[in-house]
Amino acid sequence: MPVDNEIYNRPGDIWWDEHEPLNAIRTALNPARLAYLTGVLRELGVATAGKTVLDIGCGGGLFAEELARTGARVIGVDPSTTSLATARSHAVALGLNIDYRAGAGEKLPLEDASVDIACCVDVLEHVNDVDAVIGDTARVLRAGGVFVFDTITRTRLSRLVMIKLLQEWRLTAWMPANLHAWDKFITPNELRAMLSRHHLECGDIVGMGPGVKPHRLMRLLWQLRTRSISYGEFGHQVRFVLTKDVRVSYAGYATKAT
Ligand SMILES: C[S@@+](CC[C@H](N)C(=O)[O-])C[C@H]1O[C@@H](n2cnc3c(N)ncnc32)[C@H](O)[C@@H]1O
Repeated sequence: MPVDNEIYNRPGDIWWDEHEPLNAIRTALNPARLAYLTGVLRELGVATAGKTVLDIGCGGGLFAEELARTGARVIGVDPSTTSLATARSHAVALGLNIDYRAGAGEKLPLEDASVDIACCVDVLEHVNDVDAVIGDTARVLRAGGVFVFDTITRTRLSRLVMIKLLQEWRLTAWMPANLHAWDKFITPNELRAMLSRHHLECGDIVGMGPGVKPHRLMRLLWQLRTRSISYGEFGHQVRFVLTKDVRVSYAGYATKAT
């Protein structure tokens, strides 16, 4: 089954409404992503304030808004104009100045060497051509620029968790069918090879996983199933943490040589 990217063109607010599945991205993943980004930038001695930060595949702006709050000049790019409309109106309502542009990661609507930091979170497993996205990210990054990403790897465990448990099994599934396809998942080694092909030097890769024990996770899945909690609350409860276990989700970074 191919990935269904039409999900992001559904009408209505599919991103910020806590009763929509995608809202769980914000509450479950954003805290760990921000912690990772902050840690990497601190280690590299790079600040976000005043810098141009690109969010590739920004969707409804869940992560772009977090980036804007750090004082960065944020550009969000996404092929879904429906999601971009949601992102724009949400940012305007909060008084956040974010430059949202329609486009794909494979052909970014940006000048060469115009971006200090590029983020691509939960997107690489959705695109048609990962190598082209990495290549175009390398093109728009300035020398010394940083690329930060998170995605899902292709293992037996990721098939069990991301496809069977979360998309297919009647009693536990809550993600939209075909949100993810197992064969689109990318292993850290595959990604490292692509980064290196495009002259981006890959740093440490870390795992990302639920901050709760499996029995608590199953209980929360049941509460979601019986509608006792919203997707936003579910994400808040399972709140991901950085781990050493890269068998399902992982985050990493790469730098462009100066
Ligand atoms: C799971 S969502 C993640 C959204 C956002 N990064 C976040 O974490 O809140 C995947 C996003 O990737 C976008 N997408 C799909 N194909 C893409 C492509 N070729 N280039 C850039 N973004 C793409 C979708 O439109 C969608 O907004």
